[in-house]
Amino acid sequence: MSDLDAGDQLAASTSTASLRRAEARSREIEAQIGKDPSQIRMLTGDRPTGNLHIGHYFGSLANRVRLQNDGVETFVVIADYQVITDRDDAGPIRERVLSLVADYLAVGLDPARTVIFNHSQVPALNQLLLPFLSLVTDAELRRNPTVKAELEATGDRALSGLLLTYPVHQAADILFCKANLVPVGKDQLPHLEQTRVVARRFDERYGRVDPARPIFPQAEALLSQASHVLGLDGQKMSKSRGNTIELGMDADITAKRIKKAVTDSDRNITFDPVNRPAVSNLVMLVALTAKRNPEAIAAEIGDGGAGTLKKLVTESVNEYFAPIRAKRAELANDPGYLLQVLRDGNAKANEIANATLDEVRAAMGMVF
Ligand code: TRP
Repeated sequence: MSDLDAGDQLAASTSTASLRRAEARSREIEAQIGKDPSQIRMLTGDRPTGNLHIGHYFGSLANRVRLQNDGVETFVVIADYQVITDRDDAGPIRERVLSLVADYLAVGLDPARTVIFNHSQVPALNQLLLPFLSLVTDAELRRNPTVKAELEATGDRALSGLLLTYPVHQAADILFCKANLVPVGKDQLPHLEQTRVVARRFDERYGRVDPARPIFPQAEALLSQASHVLGLDGQKMSKSRGNTIELGMDADITAKRIKKAVTDSDRNITFDPVNRPAVSNLVMLVALTAKRNPEAIAAEIGDGGAGTLKKLVTESVNEYFAPIRAKRAELANDPGYLLQVLRDGNAKANEIANATLDEVRAAMGMVF
């Protein structure tokens, strides 16, 4: 959920060849999920820094729900410790964590099938950071494109030790439960590579408990084919720009925001993301929420202009999100339930993290 503007730069630093390889591999993994999801454990997560919006929904949440429903064992970390990598304090962290839980449940993550937990409540996960940090060099961390981009996004702030090492913390998020699949955007490929390096080096340096297999798997990326939804001004969707539609917003506020959306002076509506990003993004929002083809929608509006387009976006978005919003409102009224879901998830995460840490200490000879 970080509001980075460095996606392009990161994409550029990932070589085309490795991107192609990851894409091909993602297609194989999708095929495998269709046949037999039982060998797959997926982990993803978000920083609790604000409310989730429809960009998150179409970019990642919907995909998580799909994978969960396909039978993939799913873990979702609410990365509360990651919030303080580049801020002075954690902010209204409790509200934000519970609000994320509400968002997750409202979009269809099911606590009976998906473990929802937060960093700060799972000590053994965080302790993995110690041996893991022994496996990486400071030069390696300084070159990490994700760290570089974060640093640029935070302006002139000094680089905190936590920001420098956060890819390793993220490796602990993935490896504590031995996840072998992480759905990501292509900008996140470098930190998955870092996770694989940590797993491999742990095996080389500290060894195994079971001689037949390494303690940690090689986690792979699942590159999403999700559409990239822009904000209502045609720029990256981000809270600070006020161009979002949050999952929790009501139909009226949604209508007002869409009314103010940026369009262009050409009355004839077309779907042309390269030359008309703002208008095409609105067309795309109809396509995603009405499950229709964007070209057909644009052709249908034709000379109807931006007014017709916006009316359609408003109706379609509000209709699509109505049940999600109703569920979210109901959940927000029941913080006790949200807390219980999180506590149950944390109990499961702790059980798994403790078992993994036991193996790690055994491999390292630290058993007393
Ligand atoms: N860094 C991710 C974000 O900002 C959140 C996150 C934390 C995460 N740990 C993770 C994502 C592990 C994938 C895997 O959204």
